[in-house]
Amino acid sequence: MTTTTGRMKTGAVTHEFDHAADAYDRLVGANPGYHRDLRTSVRRLRLPGRGEGLRLLDLGCGTGASTAALAEAAPRARIVAVDASQGMLDAARSKVWPHGVEFHRARAETLTPEWVAERLGGPADAVFAAYLIRNVPDPDALLSAVSAVLRPGGRVALHEYSVADSVSARAVWTAVCWGVVIPSGRALTGRADLFRYLWRSVVEFDGARALLARMRAAGLESVAGAPLPGWQYGITHTFVGARPGGRW
Ligand SMILES: C[S@@+](CC[C@H](N)C(=O)[O-])C[C@H]1O[C@@H](n2cnc3c(N)ncnc32)[C@H](O)[C@@H]1O
Repeated sequence: MTTTTGRMKTGAVTHEFDHAADAYDRLVGANPGYHRDLRTSVRRLRLPGRGEGLRLLDLGCGTGASTAALAEAAPRARIVAVDASQGMLDAARSKVWPHGVEFHRARAETLTPEWVAERLGGPADAVFAAYLIRNVPDPDALLSAVSAVLRPGGRVALHEYSVADSVSARAVWTAVCWGVVIPSGRALTGRADLFRYLWRSVVEFDGARALLARMRAAGLESVAGAPLPGWQYGITHTFVGARPGGRW
């Protein structure tokens, strides 16, 4: 990780997300498959019974795109969505949500079982974290926190860019960022820092093998990665795992 990227993750990236919050939905709406791929990753959690009786966490919920994917798959669940950026949370809260969905401001890696139990009424049955883990300064601390807030047998799905294991994925990612994402981000938000950071943070992030190893080291079992289709094939992935010790 370069110093610049590391410094961004300890705080500046939150200010950049605050600044980009109003344009965020337009930006991701221009990305073909963005919402479809979130729904696919949520399906990989295999949530039963339309979520009846389930307690779910959406970490790094942003403006609520990932929360909407969770709520669609599990409309009867209780969902606590968490983000560090007030601007992103304000945008999420301005939308209409089913009963049972709540938003809270917190850094995901600092969540404790007590904090979660207070808001969800018990440990989480499942955790979804879309485009979060690459943004935290200590991914192992995040995975430990996730493991600790899950009930035994509870599942996690990380939806994330990972290109380090593939030369062609890195090349496509770089071309898309410098050809489309950075210019569009600058045009819509008036600055490019967040979008240059996006490019660099993905290039520097774990390959799939390294991330799966981190998940195992955090005590998760049945870990596996699966690709997503379209131009993002080999770039965006779902990584699933479960806390040992229980069943659904
Ligand atoms: C790329 S956005 C993704 C938002 C949403 N999950 C989605 O799929 O559209 C990443 C989000 O993670 C949040 N974030 C970054 N670091 C965080 C942290 N340590 N704790 C909580 N949220 C964080 C950012 O504020 C931002 O809203």
